[in-house]
Amino acid sequence: MDNSSATNPQRLHFGAAFYPEHWPPERWDVDIALMQQAKISVVRMAEFAWSTMEPRPGVYQFDWLETAINKLAEAGIRTVLGTPSAAPPAWLVQIYPDMLAVDENGRRVQFGNRCHYCVTSPEFGAASQKIAKAMAERFGQSPHIIGWQIDNEYNRVCYCPRCQSEFQKFLQLSYGTLDNLNEHWSTAYWSQTYSDWAQIPIPIGPHNPGLMLAFRRFITRAYQNFQKLQIDALRPYLKPDDWITHNFMGWFNAFDHYALNEDLDLASWDWYIGTGRHNYLDSGAVHDLTRGFKRKNFWLMETQPGHVNWKPVNTTLDKNEARAMAYHAIAHGADAILYWQWRSAYGGQEQYHGTLVDQSGQPRPFYNEARRLGKEIERLSPLLAGSEVKARIAILNDYESRWSLEAQPHNANFSYVEHLMSYYRAFASRNIAVDIISADASLQGYRLVVVPALALLDEKRQESLRELTKNNGHLIVTLRTGVKDRHNALLPSRPPGPVLSELTGVEVVEYYALTDPAPIKGNWFDGQSNQWAETLRLLTDRPTPIAHYKAYNGWLDDQPALSMRVASGPVHIYYVGAYFDPAAQQKFIDQVLRFTGIRPIVTPSGVEWSTRQRPDGQDVHFIINHTASIQTVNIPWPSFDHISGQMIRGDVQLGAYAVAIITKEKV
Ligand code: GLA
Repeated sequence: MDNSSATNPQRLHFGAAFYPEHWPPERWDVDIALMQQAKISVVRMAEFAWSTMEPRPGVYQFDWLETAINKLAEAGIRTVLGTPSAAPPAWLVQIYPDMLAVDENGRRVQFGNRCHYCVTSPEFGAASQKIAKAMAERFGQSPHIIGWQIDNEYNRVCYCPRCQSEFQKFLQLSYGTLDNLNEHWSTAYWSQTYSDWAQIPIPIGPHNPGLMLAFRRFITRAYQNFQKLQIDALRPYLKPDDWITHNFMGWFNAFDHYALNEDLDLASWDWYIGTGRHNYLDSGAVHDLTRGFKRKNFWLMETQPGHVNWKPVNTTLDKNEARAMAYHAIAHGADAILYWQWRSAYGGQEQYHGTLVDQSGQPRPFYNEARRLGKEIERLSPLLAGSEVKARIAILNDYESRWSLEAQPHNANFSYVEHLMSYYRAFASRNIAVDIISADASLQGYRLVVVPALALLDEKRQESLRELTKNNGHLIVTLRTGVKDRHNALLPSRPPGPVLSELTGVEVVEYYALTDPAPIKGNWFDGQSNQWAETLRLLTDRPTPIAHYKAYNGWLDDQPALSMRVASGPVHIYYVGAYFDPAAQQKFIDQVLRFTGIRPIVTPSGVEWSTRQRPDGQDVHFIINHTASIQTVNIPWPSFDHISGQMIRGDVQLGAYAVAIITKEKV
């Protein structure tokens, strides 16, 4: 379901996770008054309140929640309701001890933390569906609810015998016959041939690549099924504009996030720094990743009010840093910022986590920063509602290629995400918007697409890249692309596979895992390749070698490391066999950008310039100082700053963590 209120919100939201079940109802009015002062417009509630909502099997207590929803609504605060399946109650576990997940070492997970469930337990699935339905029946038509969150941060992978047999059934459906499976997995290797589905194990540690990939797909499917049970329970009772989401965890890799987002209306995620400072070039990518899940704006469902409680040292963000982070998220497409959590509970596992209100019921110092932000977001909401990031560059992300490379990194230091980030950072440091999207998404309209380490190729992916180049899109294909088929078997061709070889004009002759960097000499830059090096054979006389390896181990010496082919358009198609150091990478990308006509915006290091476009075509620019010192930024045209309410132009000083939000005209 495409939900217009999620895509084109009437307003931006600001809020917190609120747990009224921790407090006597008499207190709620005080909290709500404090929320009103901070211009909180939304709270998320109930996602861990199962034992309060259903204290005994089938006995529901929702009156308290209805009172809370209504009281909040009277104060103009809307509600997002969470289904509570991340916190199954003790009575449920007592009835169905077998619903507790089993870890990789065969140990049953203990009750009392969260997500202790086995996602394939039918009894747990039914109980989750039942409570979700009961909530929907009671609250589905409430005018005060704008959206629903299912569960909370899916994360558990279970290894119980039921999961094994469900995995075997999944394989049977996927492969049809054992002969087919045996062939695709090359099971004659090490005598793994299966003659009965029941023989197939769940992989613990390293295993057959086909089996390992299939297990990840199975986990994805298991969560899809589990999530669907709750979506089906909710949907018939909800108002047409209500959306359903789940709060994901950034680059978490246990399942395919694109698959899980298909059934959701809105993507959301939980952003925690933990300790120290965030690098905005890195955090921007996670916002962009989340925006890519549904290819539209998203919610920041949780973020850190000062400090967390789960790091060895739980340092606090600098004053005003959380505010800058909030604008950073908004600049990348967030339509809501919610802090976790409103008030510190007396007990429970998170007593020392940052909050807006402390255990005494008084606002903490951070509350004032949040209040300032809440007021600003309320004021800026008409300016920003419905605006979106418009990127002309896409980086393709693929969970299956990532799992494949994580299982067989060949160089233990090689990280799929880090390699992808080496491209992202080179664009982000030039203040150029990037979409991070599924490798199976449409590439229509992009001026440049980067395909980093897309190990798994199929026909559809190859044709989509061919189509891109025909439609005036430049293309960068990088190392480790086009090595495998969708079963995680090696393709019977040299990388990057027939179609990409035709497009790039090269094939990879050999790959080398490096301990020491290999020096590189290029037309546009010198530098080195870290961790990885591929030697390229130029298939035709059309591609130009742009960089070569210098003397290294004899094998690499003088071999092409980077090629460029100019296809009609003209579009440039690169194959990058090296993993460039950051300086070389920047020079490479700067040159690529020149050919595409996409212009960088120059800001001092640590200062971000990002843009959202309003439905009326006006650009709204976010200039964010992510550093703790004053920075000078050049604003090239007379602009109205919606934060200070003044016209600004030329060299403008931004204080520590300061933000300017500008339009060319006063909107
Ligand atoms: C996660 C959870 C929250 C809370 C925070 C604490 O994101 O979703 O319920 O535990 O961590 O940082």
